[in-house]
Amino acid sequence: MLPNPQSGLILGIESSCDETAAAVVRAGEQVLSNVVASQIATHALYGGVVPELASREHLRNIVPVARAAMQEAGVDFCELEAIAVTEGPGLAGALLVGITYAKSLAFALGKPLIGINHLEGHIHAVLLEMRQQTRMALPLPLLALVVSGGHTHLYLAEPLHVEAGGTGWQYRNVGRTVDDAAGEAYDKVAKLLGLGYPGGPWIDALAKHGDPYAVKFSFAQIKPKAHRTGGQEVGGRRFHFSFSGIKTAVLRYVETHAMRDGIEKRRQALAAIPHAKPADALTLCDAETLGLIASFQRAVVDDLRRKAFAAAEAFGAHSLVVSGGVAANSELRERFTKEARERNLPIAFPSLSLSTDNAAMIAAAAWPRLRAAEFAAEELSATAQLALGQG
Ligand code: KG4
Ligand code: ZN
Repeated sequence: MLPNPQSGLILGIESSCDETAAAVVRAGEQVLSNVVASQIATHALYGGVVPELASREHLRNIVPVARAAMQEAGVDFCELEAIAVTEGPGLAGALLVGITYAKSLAFALGKPLIGINHLEGHIHAVLLEMRQQTRMALPLPLLALVVSGGHTHLYLAEPLHVEAGGTGWQYRNVGRTVDDAAGEAYDKVAKLLGLGYPGGPWIDALAKHGDPYAVKFSFAQIKPKAHRTGGQEVGGRRFHFSFSGIKTAVLRYVETHAMRDGIEKRRQALAAIPHAKPADALTLCDAETLGLIASFQRAVVDDLRRKAFAAAEAFGAHSLVVSGGVAANSELRERFTKEARERNLPIAFPSLSLSTDNAAMIAAAAWPRLRAAEFAAEELSATAQLALGQG
């Protein structure tokens, strides 16, 4: 039986990494609640996500977070049309907590369960807000850059049956990182420079005070495995990314410029400040450090920008979407927006709260699936390396 499209209340559950999240979204558009329990404080001590600790924290948080989302939305469990949950990619143990909870709830309530790819969720964070704010759709196909702590992917995306009102979406993966994700590079460089965790917001804030041309970084060209379409090489590895080299280049710079002692002093000074914030680090950074930070950010944003716009052009995309934790970056937003304006290409980012991991994006991505009655099989389980679309 198809659900009533007028009352498409979906409870979304997300636990793929270090945020336990639950949200209630109506018809892929109206966010009634969006609760996120962050584990940053737990993992900050280690400068990165510790999988075992993440699973333990999800176990502790999942029930109160889901209840809080329902309460905030003012919705009773029996009013839900479906439960949606992230099935991958992510940390297997962390994903399993959300999946087990969602499965049990769906079974107990007799409601359908919908499995969502986390990367699809990030794309739908933008689509949700576009519908909410402007009631306008982005011109299709769109090119999506999903850039976070675990992913740097380019997807060409469009609804499967546009003429029938759009039931599901199809994705073609046209670019990805061959090693580290961009957010991972931010986190590792921040850790290397004695800054806080996660590194993105620290580097974002400090880069504004440094000379972005102080240090010259270059990106290795990813060797193409030629792949021809219509006589032209449009795919291959032309739009692949690699961020492990820049992390090593920062390390080499630190070593050859005798920055170790200064870094250690900064690390200790920040550790002594309760709940230290990026602003606390400013006076602890000299011009050389700020220049290194600004140059790193400029280089990463440049690489993302060049490849995203080149891919949009090569694949004939009519709009660009940038989502995932790194999409919160202020320089990235500014430079992408400027280039999009110059190229007359519509561009959209999620609001800051929907850029990083959340469950509203999972519930929104589930709406077209609910309409198409595409439900998860009983054996739905965590898939740590779950791919999205073809390519
Ligand atoms: O999407 P997300 O919450 O989780 C994953 O799916 O990975 O992204 C987290 C990542 C972290 O690497 C974090 O450093 C980065 O997003 N991030 C940022 C900013 N805010 C968060 N990177 C650059 N600039 C920011 N303002
Ligand atoms: Zn994410």
